[in-house]
Amino acid sequence: MASILAGDALNLLSAIRMAESAGADWISLDVSDGHFVPTISFGEEVVRRTCQETKLPVEAHLMVSRPDDWIDRMDGCGHRQMIFHLEASQRAMGVINAIRKKGVQPGVAINPETPADALVTLLPYIDSVCMMGIAPGFSGQQLIEYTYKKVERLRELIDSSGSTATITIDGGVKAHNARQLVEAGADVLVVSSGLYGHANPQESLNEIRRIVSGD
Ligand code: DX5
Repeated sequence: MASILAGDALNLLSAIRMAESAGADWISLDVSDGHFVPTISFGEEVVRRTCQETKLPVEAHLMVSRPDDWIDRMDGCGHRQMIFHLEASQRAMGVINAIRKKGVQPGVAINPETPADALVTLLPYIDSVCMMGIAPGFSGQQLIEYTYKKVERLRELIDSSGSTATITIDGGVKAHNARQLVEAGADVLVVSSGLYGHANPQESLNEIRRIVSGD
């Protein structure tokens, strides 16, 4: 999954095309409000236009303080999945239900400081868990080392609950740690600076795929 956050902010269409031609299977759009995280990225109009321009499925990753407000605001934008942060909501179950009611797959993201066990009650109701491998809001950071242990724990929790939620790792994913993340139990890897900061974006994703599959 390619996050276009590290792409050219003044040329998002080229960032989308680059992700497509590099072979990304999803596009992740980081919607941030300058409050839940210090940065402001883009809002619903970029989500809508991206969904119109690409055939790839789009995930909207809400890094916002009031996820409730964004469900109606983004209604009809065309995103397949919407992720909100557990730390941002006092009524996560209500947000999950509201997202699903819009015909969108709900997912929950957790910050590095939040333990995997905080998700236990929600796992049967969500399609995806997005585990942040970095402090959210900025690309180009290094994966926090304890992420592997958290992924292992989350894998156990998901498998023992019978949940079908997938585990996504977002932040700090590069060729050198992709294999270990998948071995720990990750299903989906989000790559941003690993793609846009690479001299050959297509080669960057190919390399990660090769490493993950052990070829
Ligand atoms: C940050 C975003 C990530 C970010 C990842 O909060 O959710 O998608 O762009 O960037 P890299 O891959 O550079 O860590």
